[in-house]
Amino acid sequence: MTSDTTSETEQKIADTLARLHRTDDLAGVEAIRVEALGKQGWLNQLMKTLGKMSPEARQVEGPRLQGMRTRISEALDDRKAALEAAELERRLATETLDLTLPAPAMPTGSVHPVSQVMDELAEIFADLGFSVATGPEIEDDWHNFTALNMAETHPARAMHDTFYFGEQDRDAEGNRMLLRPHPSPVQIRAMVEQGAPIRLIAPGRVYRSDSDATHTPMFHQIEGLVIDKNIHMGHLKGCLIDFIKAYFELDDFPVRLRPHYFPFTEPSAEMDIGCDRSGGKLVMGQGDDWLEILGCGMVHPNVLKNCGIDPEEYQGFAFGAGLDRLAMLKYGIPDLRTFFEPDQRWLQHYSFGPYDQPNKTFKG
Ligand code: DAH
Repeated sequence: MTSDTTSETEQKIADTLARLHRTDDLAGVEAIRVEALGKQGWLNQLMKTLGKMSPEARQVEGPRLQGMRTRISEALDDRKAALEAAELERRLATETLDLTLPAPAMPTGSVHPVSQVMDELAEIFADLGFSVATGPEIEDDWHNFTALNMAETHPARAMHDTFYFGEQDRDAEGNRMLLRPHPSPVQIRAMVEQGAPIRLIAPGRVYRSDSDATHTPMFHQIEGLVIDKNIHMGHLKGCLIDFIKAYFELDDFPVRLRPHYFPFTEPSAEMDIGCDRSGGKLVMGQGDDWLEILGCGMVHPNVLKNCGIDPEEYQGFAFGAGLDRLAMLKYGIPDLRTFFEPDQRWLQHYSFGPYDQPNKTFKG
């Protein structure tokens, strides 16, 4: 290689470095790299000429070209790093986040009063040693009626306005299928599966063919069951008073057990608590009016026998209450139907925050 061409390449390098210096974007840097060091790049082409040189010439030219390669490649790296740093600076300067701005409104879910009340009841009864049991909403008429002391022709079967499935829709034992009108079959399932002793609540959806201001075809009930030795009405009354105290956050209130009839309990009663309606407003826990809260009784010996429990050895009590009604009474919600309407404003007003704790004011 002559000294002329040497100075030519020196010039080319000087040009390349000058252009590199003027380039202010990464794509430009890459173009210069390809032009010089790419497969078809001019420096690579020069490197290829080394093979045809005499060993002496190669000894001089080889290190020289290699040195150029290093200079260009270092300059490319430096320029690339400088441009990247400048880009980062620019982004840091422009993409600021003002942490003092209020967070944008996020759509948040909330807890429906029915779910809230279910949580509250589970908490209160957990303190009394009850577990929560669930069962199918599509039931057979043995668990729903027969085992609960309502034989095939028992008139109480008509009490519930039950939704039946078709005559042909039967289970393996030939029982008719229905939408459960109460969670009482959960009691039966628990007794059959676990035997005695038992202490459970069964909250859940129930269905009845009924619809007006105070009835919806689907609603919620909570059922309780205690089976043990030497259980009597005093236990039932004490347990229910403790529950009402905790749930309605009342310290003292008039209470009465009014005789009633349920086929699955004997004796049966409805529990009322004292209230005052005189001011056009319902005030619970005082006054000389009564408000019905729930149905209850001592589990009928036939029910125990139907579930394989010996009534001579074990007794029990049970109760059932409308869960939506419990929610309406505690939170002052006037119309049952609104529970099941998808009304955003109603939900905003009556529902609970996802982090609200169910009340834990059990004092019993
Ligand atoms: N099933 C009754 C109703 O729907 C409530 C009830 C009363 C449930 C007494 C019970 C009970 O378990 O023992 O009104």
